[in-house]
Amino acid sequence: MVQHHFLLVTFPAQGHINPTLQFAKRLLRTASHVTFATSFSAHRRMKNSTTPIGLAFVPFSDGYDDGFKPNDDPQHFMSELRRCGSETLTNIVHSLGHEGRPVTCLIYTFLLPWVADVASKLQIPSALLWIQPATVLGVYYYYFNGYGDVITSNINDPSYCFEFPGLPLLTSRELPSFFLPSNTHLFVLPTIEELFHKLDGEDKPTVLVNTFDALEFDALKVVDKLNLIGIGPLIPSAFLDRKDLSDKSFGGDLFHGSRDYMEWLNSKPESSVVYVSFGTMSVLSKPQMEEIGNGLLESCRPFLWVIRQPENGTQEKGETELNNIEELRREGMIVPWCSQVEVLSHPSVGCFVTHCGWNSTVESLVGGVPVVVFPQWSDQGTNAKLIEDVWKTGLRVRVNEGEEIVGGDEIKRCLETVMGGERGEEMKMNAMKWKDMAMEAVQEGGSSYMNLQKFVDEIGNGQT
Ligand code: UDX
Repeated sequence: MVQHHFLLVTFPAQGHINPTLQFAKRLLRTASHVTFATSFSAHRRMKNSTTPIGLAFVPFSDGYDDGFKPNDDPQHFMSELRRCGSETLTNIVHSLGHEGRPVTCLIYTFLLPWVADVASKLQIPSALLWIQPATVLGVYYYYFNGYGDVITSNINDPSYCFEFPGLPLLTSRELPSFFLPSNTHLFVLPTIEELFHKLDGEDKPTVLVNTFDALEFDALKVVDKLNLIGIGPLIPSAFLDRKDLSDKSFGGDLFHGSRDYMEWLNSKPESSVVYVSFGTMSVLSKPQMEEIGNGLLESCRPFLWVIRQPENGTQEKGETELNNIEELRREGMIVPWCSQVEVLSHPSVGCFVTHCGWNSTVESLVGGVPVVVFPQWSDQGTNAKLIEDVWKTGLRVRVNEGEEIVGGDEIKRCLETVMGGERGEEMKMNAMKWKDMAMEAVQEGGSSYMNLQKFVDEIGNGQT
């Protein structure tokens, strides 16, 4: 058997690092060597985490080796990342070769299209690891292939329904937020366009997607020119195929906290706790946080709420400035960080109030936990549509016309629906069904298992 050496290169953000690390662990099982690369600053912050056994780590420079600060210019960061990243990654591949561990394939996440250039200069095959749903990839593909004008002309009309062959009907609030005129992350669309342009130059290249066939069967087929394959869900083994019960975390946390909440969770009745988290990038306003707090207090259920500590220079308020903080601390538990996969698989958790980041979305399915859907930006509106209307495992919060904030009474209404009554039961049953299907997909012989094996074999035969 050919001994592969995969070099996985990931954008330095938690939502990109987690699925890439889990993918690295899957590749290790195929008897391949795997090296994981992210920026110096992310690498330093990950140091306290549990390093997956057998996985080698190398940091590369993104030009911001002391870390990207909230007031830094994202556009400048992206160009430095490309310039410094290309150079240091090339050197890394050379030194791995000199050490007798030549890289046989480079795998990269979607904000790093320049890794494909490094690979082609070094004459090494490369593949994209898409860390969002296939549906979102499909929407972007349509945007750059004939649907750009219709999206741009109608994005401000909330009643317009966008019809993309093979995908569910989507309204403007269900499209990626980067199409909106208010989008300030101006580098995202050109980066994705560049990515598609590079992939177009190849003969039906394989794109690895953190999903599974049963979950997004049609979406995986909408882009004729690409071979989209579901290799997910990328979740630690202890919660999924149980091949390795010690694999209980992704292994690369950029944030830290204590584990007091486990004892607290153990003391609560089955399916009674509301878990609240808005991922690692969204910053909610203080009035919105207070309304969420009011909804939680009024719903009279125990809650575990992750409120990240404010980073220097951000607008983020953190919990200390919330007017209702004392009551919130008395009635529930507020933590700066937790092991989310562990929390979602805890029997006392009955509902997840989520921003619908793709990792949180798949983690809720694997935990069999129904959700209150509270999308913020990026792919989250599309993920929310899939959760509410396609998989029917959650309920989206409504914002009153002319208002920007979701009220506490609306949070309470959603919690009551999801955690009680017939509709809530149905959501729970659907979530349990997806949990079983996710497990099936990654078991030996399952769709994701087979797709990964085929990909590894094809890399060996030079077909990708
Ligand atoms: C970002 C985007 O917002 C998201 O939409 C995109 O799909 C991926 O990149 P993020 O906002 O961080 O990600 O959300 P998400 O995708 O849910 O990833 C967060 C990760 O952090 C999850 O794997 C979650 O388990 C983990 N996490 C979060 C914890 O382990 N503990 C916490 O307390 C909070």
